[in-house]
Amino acid sequence: MAIKSQQAMLQRSEFGYFDIWKTAIEERTGVQITPDRERALGLLLNRRMGELDLLDADQYLNQTLDVTRGAKEWSGLVDSLLVKETSFFRHRPSFDFVSQWVKQTVTAEDFTGPLWVWSLGCSTGEEAYSLAITVEQAMCEVDVEPRFGIIGTDISREAIFQARRGIYRASKMTAVDESRYENYFDQVGKQLWRVKADIRRRVCFLTSNILADKSPLIKRKMHLIYCQNMLIYFRRWKRRELVNQLTQHLDNQGCLMLGLGELSNWTPEGFARTAPRTVQAYTQVETVEQGEAL
Ligand SMILES: C[S@@+](CC[C@H](N)C(=O)[O-])C[C@H]1O[C@@H](n2cnc3c(N)ncnc32)[C@H](O)[C@@H]1O
Repeated sequence: MAIKSQQAMLQRSEFGYFDIWKTAIEERTGVQITPDRERALGLLLNRRMGELDLLDADQYLNQTLDVTRGAKEWSGLVDSLLVKETSFFRHRPSFDFVSQWVKQTVTAEDFTGPLWVWSLGCSTGEEAYSLAITVEQAMCEVDVEPRFGIIGTDISREAIFQARRGIYRASKMTAVDESRYENYFDQVGKQLWRVKADIRRRVCFLTSNILADKSPLIKRKMHLIYCQNMLIYFRRWKRRELVNQLTQHLDNQGCLMLGLGELSNWTPEGFARTAPRTVQAYTQVETVEQGEAL
């Protein structure tokens, strides 16, 4: 059956069905299917048709793209396609910057907490928990009561399910310091660790597509938006459009952090890149002038 459906899909792809899939994926998720990922998409579509016992590529396309009827199948397909690679404290200089920025922000006279942080495209949660640990430590170090919340969002249901469990293999934790293992994780198996309940309680995970999100939680003004290694899968113009939207979600004193090099030669209007250059962080122009020492 798999071979027959493969033939059906190949025939259809000659007539441009493959392009319809690529366009739909990009329009709905922002993620571009580049030539090097086309093979993976083709194999996935053929595999799913085989599993569903479908011979008609046209039928599979139509039923999956149907927003209501196809929602479950669509979500599974997207889940299988996306690159969800992540780990704790993935880009160390960015977390060092977050620590400094938090200390400066929460000790400012006009700061009224709690501090809200958004980990966008958080995958299986390592990034959101790393932010929670960093923010908590930074607040304690400047003797400020740790009142903060982290929101982690990702389009992948499977990733968010894992994020909520908060259980990780040691291989994802090579950048976690010895002292943090003890303070923030419980060993729950061989080479298996769970984020302690105190930190898990700080983080709220949501399945959410940034291109279609209407959640009231995301509507609140954020102090820090941390979005790394997601925009690289989007076209340049789409990255700019999205970054412009994200700046609308920021509090006046807020900071937007991207992955290094994810947006070059362009800065959102009214914002400027902060020092140091080992990170890609933007704040509103007046804030940059005050915070240049960071
Ligand atoms: C490579 S991972 C990056 C994870 C983490 N931010 C890091 O840097 O380690 C990219 C994540 O972006 C998510 N993603 C892609 N398109 C998205 C969209 N339209 N809305 C929300 N998340 C999306 C993917 O599901 C994936 O988990």
